[in-house]
Amino acid sequence: MAVPELVGVYGGGRMGAGIVHAFLLVGARVVVVETSDATAGAAHDRVAGTLAQAAERGQVPEGVGAALARLTTTTDPHALAAAGLVVEAVPELPDLKAEVLARIAAAAPDAVVATNTSSLSVDGLAAALPDPARFVGLHFFNPVPASDLVEIVVGSATAPDVVTAAQGWVVDLGKTAVTVADSPGFASSRLGVALALEAMRMLDEGVASADDIDTAMTLGYRHPVGPLRTTDLVGLDVRLAIAEHLERELGPRFAPPQVLRDHVAAGRLGRKSGQGFFTW
Ligand SMILES: NC(=O)c1ccc[n+]([C@@H]2O[C@H](COP(=O)([O-])OP(=O)(O)OC[C@H]3O[C@@H](n4cnc5c(N)ncnc54)[C@H](O)[C@@H]3O)[C@@H](O)[C@H]2O)c1
Repeated sequence: MAVPELVGVYGGGRMGAGIVHAFLLVGARVVVVETSDATAGAAHDRVAGTLAQAAERGQVPEGVGAALARLTTTTDPHALAAAGLVVEAVPELPDLKAEVLARIAAAAPDAVVATNTSSLSVDGLAAALPDPARFVGLHFFNPVPASDLVEIVVGSATAPDVVTAAQGWVVDLGKTAVTVADSPGFASSRLGVALALEAMRMLDEGVASADDIDTAMTLGYRHPVGPLRTTDLVGLDVRLAIAEHLERELGPRFAPPQVLRDHVAAGRLGRKSGQGFFTW
């Protein structure tokens, strides 16, 4: 199924702006709903900025102006009325997301509604909607323009035709979809964090140095980046929060190792602080 002619994006921050970028590049009209004129303007500027960068790489043959002409930013949810798809990308707060999803359903009753949540349960969020069959997770990765992956997260009520449509849209965006049942950490966080936590335990136990553990994966298994360096890039605080969430949901195999807690307590958060498992 072709990408809807009009796509809504609720929340035009880091992820929302990236999602807008992706849909503009394949010819959709996009409406962004934000909280104020200032944040709506900031969302527009973010998209204009990444489109300009993409144009330098030859990825916007029609020109940045032509692509931006299909973008509307507003504070009025009614602008979503004719959208075939609305993706929410507001902050990861369950109550805020529930409120926003209810507003989307009221403003765009015929749209497929998607959430870009990175950790919340799709079934939990679906409770905010009158028609959970038309609700699905579309988990884009950061930065969206450079990322090839979208996780399609299927809730227990998500209709099969909505899953099929979502899979088609991801292909149309030039990305690859993986389809995952709604479950803690989906596929990507659960597996990525599991590997990283084992690498940290090995470091704790003195099995090998951080560099050697990562090299075992990059050269031995052709991972582009090792699990400890990846943790530095994501942020140790972010990974600690995910591990704690997965420990609560899936049990002690996701218990954060002491070395992770110690680094975070000392402010060694990875690349953003200059020091994590490696010095940056
Ligand atoms: N940052 C990442 O690496 C990443 C990756 C994958 C998924 N996610 C998920 O994407 C979502 C958004 O994350 P982000 O990093 O883009 O956050 P962000 O803070 O950069 O952007 C959130 C945007 O939502 C807007 N907003 C807040 N309340 C709103 C409301 N009531 N109505 C309309 N707009 C509102 C804010 O003004 C802001 O522009 C979260 O669920 C997050 O878990 C983030």
